[in-house]
Amino acid sequence: MPTYPDAEALAATRDELRALPPLVTSREILALKQQLAEAQEGKRFLLQGGDCAETFAECTSDVISNRLKVLLQMSLVLVHGLKLPVVRVGRFAGQYAKPRSADTETRDGVTLPTYRGDIVNSPDFDAQARVPDPRRMVKAHARSAMTMNFVRSLIDGGFADLHHPEYWGLGWVSQSPHAADYQKMVAGIGDAVRFMETLAGRRMQSLNRVDFYTSHEALLLHYEESQTRQVPRADGWFNLSTHFPWIGMRTAALDGAHVEYFRGIRNPVAVKVGPSVTSDQLLRVIDALNPDDEPGRLGLIHRMGAGQIADKLPALLDAVKREGRRVLWICDAMHGNTESTSNGYKTRRFANIRSEIEQAFDLHAAAGTHLGGVHLEMTGENVTECLGGARDLTEVDLQRDYRSTVDPRLNYEQALEIAMLIVRKRGAIGE
Ligand code: PEP
Ligand code: CO
Repeated sequence: MPTYPDAEALAATRDELRALPPLVTSREILALKQQLAEAQEGKRFLLQGGDCAETFAECTSDVISNRLKVLLQMSLVLVHGLKLPVVRVGRFAGQYAKPRSADTETRDGVTLPTYRGDIVNSPDFDAQARVPDPRRMVKAHARSAMTMNFVRSLIDGGFADLHHPEYWGLGWVSQSPHAADYQKMVAGIGDAVRFMETLAGRRMQSLNRVDFYTSHEALLLHYEESQTRQVPRADGWFNLSTHFPWIGMRTAALDGAHVEYFRGIRNPVAVKVGPSVTSDQLLRVIDALNPDDEPGRLGLIHRMGAGQIADKLPALLDAVKREGRRVLWICDAMHGNTESTSNGYKTRRFANIRSEIEQAFDLHAAAGTHLGGVHLEMTGENVTECLGGARDLTEVDLQRDYRSTVDPRLNYEQALEIAMLIVRKRGAIGE
């Protein structure tokens, strides 16, 4: 947690946040929990994705709508290929806090507090900019509300209408190496929709919109707690800043504040599971967060890295299965695959991301467990942050359009390619 130098300002900001309206409702949260319960049983597939970190500056019309378009396109590929409904969860409208392994950063002999995400301080390397400022929480809440508002309006206004998937086309989709496959699928869906409506003799209104949920890492407890409320006609407490918060790998200690906080809320929650977690620790986290084995309550997001997943995951799958615990297994194929290039960029290789997802499907199949979803860092922008993919981006390409202030994201084409390979892989293992 950051240290705020001005305790009074922090307390006043928390009071202000407590009085502001929530961003989501308990009804939506419980509806998502039901969908996650179905994903646990293999009746749905979860697609969770978005930026590593949102920034205040990128709370813009284009960035929000492009990110939504990619998520919609990926979900269309998944629904079509898997023949399953997809649960769509964005990493947005609150993904403003970042965990850091060091408290300070030194450049040219100058040491300053680290950047912890726009909700805490500014990335500029300047003493004033790096001081944690509680007012940033109010700005994050407002930016999250604007993001939610725009996403909800787009969807209610027909942006996700299956009668018009061409609305979701991004400008440069026609140049993509996957354009032909994607266009063929869209045309096929258009035909199927027209066929069904002709048979039914009416327009199917349910195809006009989709559900969209939000998630973020619930890292900054000052913010999360001030959005945690009781509501009329439902028991318990809800975090009303997001539908589906998760605990990051660095704050998942059993006796830590984040697990303690999550114990007290009724939202569906998830926990990142890294390569150092033992079966015993994992079972104790499950006991703490889902003592009654409630369906849809707990997601486990494994993020081992392509090189370690085969070694580390099977024991965890076996232990959870042996104890008969009910969890939703999700594969984060990003965070275990981060590396630095010789020219100083933080990147991820598409081949490793792909390999981790493919291995995850195989390992779950071998263990008799079920991979119910994926967790990805991606953007609708044509950035060059991850290496490889259909266009085979190289280290030199990274210089062209590397925008992330934190982790490298899949660009639009690479994200779509991941959706296609999930379909192929799941088909190949016979699910
Ligand atoms: C993240 O999801 O951006 C993140 C920091 O992940 P992890 O906690 O798994 O490292
Ligand atoms: Co990240």
